[in-house]
Amino acid sequence: MLRRNFLKFLGLSSGSVLMSTSCNNKLDAKKNTLDEFGTIDNKPVIVSTWKHGLEANEAAWTVIDQGGSALDAVEKGVMVTESDPKNTSVGIGGTPDRDGNVTLDACIMNHEGDCGAVAFLKEIENPIAVARLVMEKTPHVMLVGKGAQEFAVQQGFKRKNLLTESSRKAWEEWKKVEEYTTPINIENHDTISMLAIDKDGNMSGACTTSGLGYKMHGRVGDSPIIGASLFVDNEVGGACATGVGEMVIRVVGSHLVVELMRQGYKPELACKMAVERIISKHKSVKGMQVGFLALNKNGESGGYAIYEGFNFAKHTKSGNELIDTPFFHKW
Ligand code: GLY
Repeated sequence: MLRRNFLKFLGLSSGSVLMSTSCNNKLDAKKNTLDEFGTIDNKPVIVSTWKHGLEANEAAWTVIDQGGSALDAVEKGVMVTESDPKNTSVGIGGTPDRDGNVTLDACIMNHEGDCGAVAFLKEIENPIAVARLVMEKTPHVMLVGKGAQEFAVQQGFKRKNLLTESSRKAWEEWKKVEEYTTPINIENHDTISMLAIDKDGNMSGACTTSGLGYKMHGRVGDSPIIGASLFVDNEVGGACATGVGEMVIRVVGSHLVVELMRQGYKPELACKMAVERIISKHKSVKGMQVGFLALNKNGESGGYAIYEGFNFAKHTKSGNELIDTPFFHKW
């Protein structure tokens, strides 16, 4: 790779590289180096959060394997999770808010930096597909609530009840034992976020969730917020988040991870540094999970979480596997 392209990857001029090297030696071993950058052909590659990412990756891989774009792949991939009624954190069957409403958040971003999002969307099974249309067919980035639903219906989406019988029963049980003032640290949600690099080397990402279980009516987490739950810079890489959205929003987590990768930090270390930032900015993270997942332009990936138990699914030419991430605390 030409030196000027490597510097562009780092977001630095040659002068600043020299300064950065002399100021920050102890972290250089974990940085992308000129030698390896550009010599690795890890594409196509797809990564997504949690075990349900395995199934989503399969759908996304089919798209990419047939020559489809990373954008099509991430949309079709996470739609599998959205449409699974057994999944209680994404799409239909998602855990409702305290008042029994299933409200969905999603966002999508392509290799050109275009992005779209929906928040507080009711009765539409595939919010990621609506987010994509917000990106492609409107002059806006985000639509919320009734306006987002009206737009979805105009675009041909059908309204349907997303509260499944088992989610309704679980909510009825929750109401018997919980105060209406339940705090945000119920770790019963596991957003799906996905990043993919297609055969052309282009990256896109998607994130979708029903959000924090039994949240306050109207609450929106990080998942529809570009820069918080998801960020893609095709020259550097992408990052996405899962966990307690309020904590991710406060540090604009995914953008932070991408900017750290721009400085040359490897995906896992960039995710670790973002988790450290969250820990340092909160008086306590007791019982609060956040995990970041990152994929750089080389196709290298990694994740890091506050607590043990976060994993991600990675699909390459060699297959689809679940990888446990490092963490700071045991539960
Ligand atoms: N990360 C999903 C949420 O907080 O809603």
